[in-house]
Amino acid sequence: MAIFEYAPAPETTKAAIREQYGLFIDGKWTAPRTGQYFDTVNPATEEPLARIAYAGEEDVERAVRAARKAYDKYWRKMRPADRAKYIYRIARAITERSRELAVLETMDGGKPIKESRDFDVPLSAAHFFYYAGWADKLEWAMRAGEEPKPIGVAGQIVPWNFPLLMAAWKLAPALACGNTIVLKPAETTPLTALALAQIAAEVDLPPGVLNVVTGDGGTGAALVGHEDVDKIAFTGSTEVGKAIQRSTAGTGKRLTLELGGKAAHIVFADAPMNQAIEGVVNGIYFNQGHVCCAGSRLLVEESAHEEIVVRLTDRIQTLRLGNPLDKNTDVGAINSKMQLDKIKELVGSGVDEGATLVQQSCVLPERGYFFPASFFTNVQQSHRIAREEIFGPVLSILTFRTPEEAVEKANNTPYGLSAGIWTDKGSKNMYIAQYLRAGVVWCNTFNQFDPSSPFGGYRESGFGREGGVHGLREYLAH
Ligand code: NAI
Ligand code: MG
Repeated sequence: MAIFEYAPAPETTKAAIREQYGLFIDGKWTAPRTGQYFDTVNPATEEPLARIAYAGEEDVERAVRAARKAYDKYWRKMRPADRAKYIYRIARAITERSRELAVLETMDGGKPIKESRDFDVPLSAAHFFYYAGWADKLEWAMRAGEEPKPIGVAGQIVPWNFPLLMAAWKLAPALACGNTIVLKPAETTPLTALALAQIAAEVDLPPGVLNVVTGDGGTGAALVGHEDVDKIAFTGSTEVGKAIQRSTAGTGKRLTLELGGKAAHIVFADAPMNQAIEGVVNGIYFNQGHVCCAGSRLLVEESAHEEIVVRLTDRIQTLRLGNPLDKNTDVGAINSKMQLDKIKELVGSGVDEGATLVQQSCVLPERGYFFPASFFTNVQQSHRIAREEIFGPVLSILTFRTPEEAVEKANNTPYGLSAGIWTDKGSKNMYIAQYLRAGVVWCNTFNQFDPSSPFGGYRESGFGREGGVHGLREYLAH
């Protein structure tokens, strides 16, 4: 097949990036007491974008104090309908600055601009719009007769795969319920969280209601360990989640954890195959596979295995890998050198253990961290690539013969965040879905998100829900 190259179509909107960012504490930008700064780089070019303040214990202390003061002084006491106005303003400001935020997100994290523009940013705004509407209706999120009360100061720690969206998921319900916040973005992707701080200042959010402390795991640990924090909401690796659960045990802190996954994506031979292939591609190559709910274990009915492998082999050749700022790019940059090394190591283990690797053939850009869209056939359940979260554009394909075997294999994992099913039969969809141990089960679709729909896991994927009424309850005292 002749492949015609697309002309480059880079996004031309400019994002204002400062040379250096301080911490956002008590409504003001302030230098870190540590005196330390670190670079955030563009993973597609390896070039530094800005210098970011490193918050130490003393800085976290200042941020928590500001949040406590704002909680007691303004936020807890404010009429819920007034709180809603601030949240609406944040939503509108995100919408107004959507192009700029999309560019920032793509430059800082490496995801394709079409994803940050069409998914991350609009969905972030949608969460603020949705929860703004809840602020004065909280009694409807409670059991009859219970009065809705906020928890207090929430420490929120977010990862690098959906930096703005994960911040929005956590901030919007927390604010609607009357809590104040110290937000800790991931070290490789702080820029959109800092843009949110700018937005908070522009919409006159009372000082201290939202504080943003940048740094690494040490900063996060200081926030988790602070005795005046009432609730921790964490999204990230299972390993760090477990450490957080250990350190908060017995402290009375409320905790929600949204951790990793190794989702089963089940395709029956009777599935609408064109749609199923697109669903599989979206399930694993969206955001370079840096997705906790990625459909990374493809379980296909044996009789359809050959057809699916042939179709997938063709389909990945048509994915465009390259400059994330180009509007035609499907596969952007891997978020960091560290993550790229992890992906390479796990893919190496798959080859060593005897699985067959298929990759898109394309020239990788000379600079930046890139990995081609890939999948493995001849995968055994015991292979590392079938069990461990790769968090990259790498799919493992296994087969099954009966619906029961599909369910058994799907549930054979320590995780339980999401799953997908493709079949032409509605009854089979419903039947299988009820046996899958996963927080979200998508039927004949994948990666569908809506602010009104709860999201969260079982087992090593964590606990607690984000989104919907369920997400509100995690920020109300009970
Ligand atoms: P991580 O769990 O270390 O980082 C997530 C966030 O937690 C970051 O903001 C980080 O600064 C913070 N953090 C790190 N150590 C902490 C501690 N001891 N206390 C409090 N906060 C802490 O994830 P990492 O190392 O960036 O990625 C490793 C693997 O984790 C990935 O390869 C992927 O498999 C998985 N992961 C899963 C995510 C998800 O959405 N479920 C998101 C990010 C990573
Ligand atoms: Mg970066």
